[in-house]
Amino acid sequence: PETGCLSLVVLGASGDLAKKKTFPALFNLYRQGFLLSNEVHIFGYARTKISDDELRNRIRGFLIQGKGASDEQLEELSKFLQLIKYVSGSYDSAEGFQLLDKEISEHEVSKKTIEGSSRRLFYFALPPSVYPSVCKMIKNYCMNKSDLGGWTRIVVEKPFGKDLDSSEKLSDQIGELFEEPQIYRIDHYLGKELVQNLLVLRFANRFFMPLWNRDNIDNVQIVFREDFGTEGRGGYFDEYGIIRDIIQNHLLQVFCLVAMEKPGSLKPERIRDEKVKVLQSVLPIKDEEVVLGQYDGYKDDPTVPDNSNTPTFATVVLRIHSERWEGVPFILKAGKALNSRKAEIRVQFKDVPGDIFKCQKQGRNEFVIRLQPKEAMYMKLTVKQPGLEMSTVQSELDLSYGQRYQGLTIPEAYERLILDTIRGDQQHFVRRDELKAAWEIFTPLLHRIDNGELKPTLYQPGSRGPEEADQLLERSGYVQTHGY
Ligand code: BG6
Repeated sequence: PETGCLSLVVLGASGDLAKKKTFPALFNLYRQGFLLSNEVHIFGYARTKISDDELRNRIRGFLIQGKGASDEQLEELSKFLQLIKYVSGSYDSAEGFQLLDKEISEHEVSKKTIEGSSRRLFYFALPPSVYPSVCKMIKNYCMNKSDLGGWTRIVVEKPFGKDLDSSEKLSDQIGELFEEPQIYRIDHYLGKELVQNLLVLRFANRFFMPLWNRDNIDNVQIVFREDFGTEGRGGYFDEYGIIRDIIQNHLLQVFCLVAMEKPGSLKPERIRDEKVKVLQSVLPIKDEEVVLGQYDGYKDDPTVPDNSNTPTFATVVLRIHSERWEGVPFILKAGKALNSRKAEIRVQFKDVPGDIFKCQKQGRNEFVIRLQPKEAMYMKLTVKQPGLEMSTVQSELDLSYGQRYQGLTIPEAYERLILDTIRGDQQHFVRRDELKAAWEIFTPLLHRIDNGELKPTLYQPGSRGPEEADQLLERSGYVQTHGY
């Protein structure tokens, strides 16, 4: 790994994302020895005028649960907090960014005894409306100037625009200032353990490749459910809706990994090439293969307009025009305020031809990958009911991570992804052409929803969502299985 001075700048340091995700991820990396005190300095930047200590106090409670913490943990925490410095300034002011640059440079000078180059990472925990101006400020004032080489990278997170045009405009603005290898577009689903496992599962096992096609697979579901609504984020959410918030990015990334062809190697560019290819093979979405919902009570939020047409639930069927997948529906489903919190992939196989057991009614072969909670993979299959009778029953081959990997802590998505940005590995980040292809799939549908041509139906919070969604599932060939 590279060595040298590392400056991590969290822009929007006093905001929610920074407190809940970015700083805790940095602290976990520090605890595990990935951020070394003699190399790293962390800078928080935001508009609020507060002192270093005030920032440290604001984030402290998000890093460690005070009560149960041991003295050792508290000492670790205080050492970590000492690495953080705060700089206040606005997102379009030269002064603020000049000051930030001065602080970073001082840090670099103080660490110049370390062999190696200087590295500057800017993490945007910011609303995208300020991305262009912040990029300009960094480019003008804060780039790495070390003679010893090194780099400057930026980490940005969705929403990247609201449709194809606005996203392309934003990409152009950023692209004029930074090269693609400097831009890390985070989709935190790509940092989840079982999402990262998909490539290994598909391409390192003899079991799956021969079966992974239209001859054997009947339908695929990629599902995201949350059992809470848009609490406190109604205003933001209403501008975007569930398709832009979850389906166009998180579920579509999972879709790519399930449906793409095998890359020539594990080089990030080869993997991303395959993802782009499968996205470009998706056929236009048909209205009759879309169900939209809005939960009852969503509009009670004072920041949500009374006439809001924004879906908080959607089921969308994607179809791929390819030799492997012709005719196989990929059902992407996401909803807020449903009956459970779960994200999973369900690959349902076709019935066995010439069935001699007459067991089909018990259910089909199904391969389930549960991304969260309680990571697991299981295969539903038919076995003989133990006992004297020659009857059959559905059972599971079950790999539950909690049991199989007892005592192992699965890293948080953000932790892993931030480490990748420091290491310069773009495999789990979204490339510009991938983002464009993703918007191409959903933009026509989104425009029709925005125009009010398609409307969500009301569903009760705590339910499965609109009934029409279950009907669409059934029409797409999904057969309800029992047991797990
Ligand atoms: C975010 C969405 O990207 O993902 C949120 O904006 C959603 O609306 C969240 O709650 C879900 O992430 P996770 O990791 O809890 O599934």
